[in-house]
Amino acid sequence: MKHVLVIYYSRTGHTQEMANAIAQGAQLAGAQADCRSVYDVDIAQLVNYDAIILGSPSYYGSMAADVKKFLDSTISLHGKLRGKVGGAFCSSARVSGGNETTLLSILHAFLVHGMILTGGTPTYPYGPVAIHAPNDDATREECLAYGRMIAELAAKLSP
Ligand SMILES: Cc1cc2nc3c(=O)[nH]c(=O)nc-3n(C[C@H](O)[C@H](O)[C@H](O)COP(=O)(O)O)c2cc1C
Repeated sequence: MKHVLVIYYSRTGHTQEMANAIAQGAQLAGAQADCRSVYDVDIAQLVNYDAIILGSPSYYGSMAADVKKFLDSTISLHGKLRGKVGGAFCSSARVSGGNETTLLSILHAFLVHGMILTGGTPTYPYGPVAIHAPNDDATREECLAYGRMIAELAAKLSP
């Protein structure tokens, strides 16, 4: 069984709702999925996961400072996350609110860790995005599909 960790920072709950749906999607693919706030992640435990998916609201077109702080703290694991699958998700206030630049800011950090990244769904190629909360069925389905896709990729890489 693959272990997937979905991590989020969320001030008003939108990104957290996405995280819950993504974790649910990973579970539908047969993975064990944990869903935690950036404040509740024990950095040392990251090595125990096959895939790590990190989400942030768009703050001025990039990840929130708390997410960057979390990522910077992973320097203590540098080299130990190599080969794990990574993914990103984002909530913003508007369609052109910097969702994709926020996703890429997270994915860039995962590349520096040597993690393996995949394109997302045809609708959200960089990873799922929601305008505020994922209230509509289509956005929720995208979150489920992304969680499933990441868990399946982790299983393919090390059956
Ligand atoms: C400091 C700050 C900066 C923000 N910058 C942007 C932005 O650049 N583009 C945007 O669309 N929304 C921006 N927002 C809105 C949030 O991205 C949006 O409300 C998001 O859904 C909040 O997610 P959360 O409920 O998980 O905290 C900003 C909000 C804050 C507090």
